[in-house]
Amino acid sequence: MTITEPTTQARPEAASAHPVHPVPVIIDCDTGVDDALALLFAVRHPGLDLRAVTCVAGNTDVDQVVRNTLTVLDIAGAAPGLPVARGAERPLIEPARFAEHVHGRDGMGDLGLPAPATRAPVDVDAVTLLRREILGSPRPVTLIPTAPLTNIALLLRTYPEVTRNIERIVFMGGAVAVGNATPVAEFNVWHDPEAAAILLTAGVPITMYGLDVFQRVLVPPADVQRLRASAEPGARLAGDLLAHRDPAASGDPTPTGNLGDAGTVCAVADPAGLTTRLLPVEVSLAPGPTRGQTVVDRRPRHGESEIHHGAREKPLVDVALDIDVERYLKLYLGTVEKR
Ligand code: BDR
Ligand code: CA
Repeated sequence: MTITEPTTQARPEAASAHPVHPVPVIIDCDTGVDDALALLFAVRHPGLDLRAVTCVAGNTDVDQVVRNTLTVLDIAGAAPGLPVARGAERPLIEPARFAEHVHGRDGMGDLGLPAPATRAPVDVDAVTLLRREILGSPRPVTLIPTAPLTNIALLLRTYPEVTRNIERIVFMGGAVAVGNATPVAEFNVWHDPEAAAILLTAGVPITMYGLDVFQRVLVPPADVQRLRASAEPGARLAGDLLAHRDPAASGDPTPTGNLGDAGTVCAVADPAGLTTRLLPVEVSLAPGPTRGQTVVDRRPRHGESEIHHGAREKPLVDVALDIDVERYLKLYLGTVEKR
């Protein structure tokens, strides 16, 4: 596709609270404090049918990601047979670079969580599990990557036929404006830019839930305290995760209480809370200060580059530009605390 005037895509239907057909979803994650919040929500939302979880290196090493994921699914009360698979232990080209300063040494805020009690990963790798679950689903699957996109890129290159049963991909990554890993690059894309570039050209509808909306969904302190005091283990875990980074103690100005990756899953359950525009997006793969940047073209018309050199093919992505914070807070708390 070439650069076009921005258009909007047909909005996917919301996952109803009393669903006849829950939306089949698969989460690819690097659990991860906010990935854990996302899993708690996905397990507990009645409109989502969580069919598998795949793990990738990102916030911490992939074996720790698997362990964290299994523990969170235990606490969330996920179906005992929910398959979880280990995936890539490093990006396609670069070495892994973990985010312990954000997520703690164990990737879970060093909360001292127990080892998984009842679960183990399946005996196939993440790419094999993704293929099996996507092609085996009676209805097209929505993929929700909340991590570096290595597993997804490997899947698309190894088994391109999976796209015939993917409804869309809603990924946490990128930024229209400001980055976090670098001034312009968001962590998940920066960690494996080549994989992100492969994702953007998957040929299925893609929604980019980037930092511009990701950073805005902050749970008020009173709600965090209520969650922490809950007698129900899943709600209590959500509260502890939301509270884990006290800006006063960590010296980090990022406010606590960010739903983070969980907002991406809220956007699948309730797409009407997200304002998006279909825009051309490219990942900068060049070495240097822009590597990993998602370059989002918001210009109303072609510029000199296209006039002099012709328009280049660029994937069109449904980019999140605004978010109904109150709506998603209510949705998240109402879902996770319901048990
Ligand atoms: C992303 O990076 C990770 O630290 C979070 O889990 C989230 O997926 C934000 O840039
Ligand atoms: Ca993540």
